[in-house]
Amino acid sequence: MSVAGKARKVTTNTLQEMKREGEPITMLTAYDFSLARIIDKAGIDVILVGDSASNVMAGNDTTVPMTLDHMIYHAQCVERAVDRALIVVDMPFGTYQGNSKLALESAIRIMKESGAHAVKLEGGAEIVESIERILTAGIPVMGHLGLTPQSIYKFGTYSVRAKEEQEANKLLEDCRLLEKAGCFSIVFEKIPAELAEKASQSLNIPTIGIGAGSGVDGQVLVLHDLLGITHEFNPRFLRRYMNLYEDIGNAVSNYIDDVRSRDFPNEEERY
Ligand code: KIV
Repeated sequence: MSVAGKARKVTTNTLQEMKREGEPITMLTAYDFSLARIIDKAGIDVILVGDSASNVMAGNDTTVPMTLDHMIYHAQCVERAVDRALIVVDMPFGTYQGNSKLALESAIRIMKESGAHAVKLEGGAEIVESIERILTAGIPVMGHLGLTPQSIYKFGTYSVRAKEEQEANKLLEDCRLLEKAGCFSIVFEKIPAELAEKASQSLNIPTIGIGAGSGVDGQVLVLHDLLGITHEFNPRFLRRYMNLYEDIGNAVSNYIDDVRSRDFPNEEERY
């Protein structure tokens, strides 16, 4: 039986074993009880309570406004739904950069108040001190390199990262630092597939890609993109499995028609 098939509860060790066995890791975002329940029952390995909740749930243009309280609220909702998946929570902007003591306090709050299993931080060398301090408390840390949306105002765009040699070399060096510091996994967002593959092969810890090609150890997508609930966001890497934007719109139009025509409720739909 596969490593994922055997795992009644996915842990960071399960993911490392999956990498060793060459088994792709599956990861999706969730921010609420109902969808987290569905994707956990469907067998997803990792659920990311991403700060993309800022865009998807709150309608902000960036992830910058997200607070620790927001993330803890979403993580609590997800945690109540999940029996098997590993739950990773994004540490929001301003809760870990440049201050490792604050980083540790923030990570402890997430773990204590939400019941999640790990945290994710964006960045390389510049945040290693925070990662090391969080790890001293026994909190598993997932790294995140390449496109780091919390730094949108530094880069100015959400375009592909590390296309030039200098940035690609920095990414490879950051990978080494994060692995050495003790991260159990690293997300690569929107980097060239060849670089992602090279970096993955150089690491013993699993890598999870979004817009990073197939040479990584697993894939992650934002659930609302996969389901086609969001419809204005159309990056090349996205595969939509449903068009819920249209389906929900049609369902609501039908409901409106039925209420207005007094077709709903009918004889059976009453007490
Ligand atoms: O917040 C998020 O959804 C993420 C994924 C895009 C990896 O960080």
